[in-house]
Amino acid sequence: MIGIGWQSDSSRLAYDIMRWILLSFFSLFLLVIACSNQQDDRGPSDLAREARRLSRIYPLPASVKFPADNHWSEAKVHLGRLLFFDPILSGKQDIACATCHHPDNGFAESRDLSIGTNGIGFGNSRHFKQPNEIPLVKRNAHTILNTAFNGIDLGQRYDPNNAPMFWDNRANSLEEQALMPMKALEEMRGTEISEEEIVQVVIKRLRTIDAYVELFEKAFPDSDQPIDSINLAKALATYERTLVNNNTRFDMFKRGEAEAMSLGEKEGMQLFIEVGCAACHNGPMLSDYKTHVLGVPENDKLTELDRGFEDRFHFRTPTLRNLRFTFPFMHNGTMHSIREILEFYQDISQGKSRNPNVPIDSIDPLARALKLKVKDFGPIENFLLSLNDDNYDRRIPAEVPSGLPVGGNISSR
Ligand code: HEC
Ligand code: HEC
Repeated sequence: MIGIGWQSDSSRLAYDIMRWILLSFFSLFLLVIACSNQQDDRGPSDLAREARRLSRIYPLPASVKFPADNHWSEAKVHLGRLLFFDPILSGKQDIACATCHHPDNGFAESRDLSIGTNGIGFGNSRHFKQPNEIPLVKRNAHTILNTAFNGIDLGQRYDPNNAPMFWDNRANSLEEQALMPMKALEEMRGTEISEEEIVQVVIKRLRTIDAYVELFEKAFPDSDQPIDSINLAKALATYERTLVNNNTRFDMFKRGEAEAMSLGEKEGMQLFIEVGCAACHNGPMLSDYKTHVLGVPENDKLTELDRGFEDRFHFRTPTLRNLRFTFPFMHNGTMHSIREILEFYQDISQGKSRNPNVPIDSIDPLARALKLKVKDFGPIENFLLSLNDDNYDRRIPAEVPSGLPVGGNISSR
């Protein structure tokens, strides 16, 4: 019958072929959709397997890698340190990198959200001078400690030219990151100089100061014009790569000193892995350097929602090293204790989102799969405290070549 049909009617043949092609495309389309949703369709046992595969934690390497085009040199570190503390890099010459990343606070800040230019004072006593038209910085300041290792993976590999920076990974190396705070209105630029002009304005200022001319020549002996934006970024990045504290009790234990961690800390470490924290907080930095949705509550001091990476409420997994200094916690500093954070994770694992803009289904399955009991809180907290290390370069220059206040307007502390 069919044979007769298609032989006698060629338009029917065309119709059948068309239908076959459309059906094939439709099946292919369904297959693609099914595959792209695979992540959310993972069954509990697949997720558990994946979490176990990821859950490995290591000590940090003993030394730091420098990029091929920005080797370490004492001259560069010295110059980078002076620049880091010198408010000459800011539009109104009132704020330095060190204002928000000060060695007295582990190169981070004790405020939830930073106060940039037009601010005065240090840490919690920092406030805006009046009148003020500068908004708060919308995120919590990271520590610079160990950013030399940003991006380090489960195989302990990392590439200083491809090192994710910021809560949304929007910069890719310390060099690329270094000029960004200078260009940001609410951090260092202010309103008087445009984003396009600010770096050149700063370069011109540096060229007028003899001490900087000499320091740049020593640090970059092969450059015809040593003071330029590339070398400015390179010097800052070289100094930052020396800000490392890789000898926590955890590192010592993992390198073979069995007694370096207490029994309680070791128990906490085991639970940290079993509960599922290490599915994201893994590798030597206890971060996978990926972005995830957790639905941290918004900070009420901000007038707009912070939608994070790709506007999807994704934020990068932070390192759990030096929590003593990264306090207050999360991308917007809204959490104040490890216990509060553990309660937040417990809510997620019980199907509750704390952020009304982030439905529970959109929260990362690895967070929803956490198996967290109240009795685990204490030991996990003990383990996290073994990741602090007070031993790092705290040197503050006595003065900076511009003659401006070292570290910006922080002296009212
Ligand atoms: C007004 C305070 C402020 C100043 C000044 C400032 N920062 Fe930051 N810094 C922050 C905040 C806030 C973040 C997090 C921003 C984000 O992730 O969106 C940050 C993030 C960083 C990071 C990313 C670390 C990581 O792990 O991703 C680096 C590196 C850094 N700053 C270096 C610098 C340097 C270098 C300067 C000076 C040129 C500087 N900062 C000036 C507040 C400041
Ligand atoms: C799905 C991945 C994931 C899992 C699982 C996870 N975390 Fe996190 N963690 C993150 C992300 C992402 C952030 C930052 C979220 C934000 O700021 O919006 C974070 C933030 C934190 C912070 C704040 C650090 C700081 O300096 O601000 C702590 C502490 C923390 N997590 C501990 C834990 C513990 C303990 C567990 C297990 C109970 C855990 N995390 C499980 C991804 C994860």
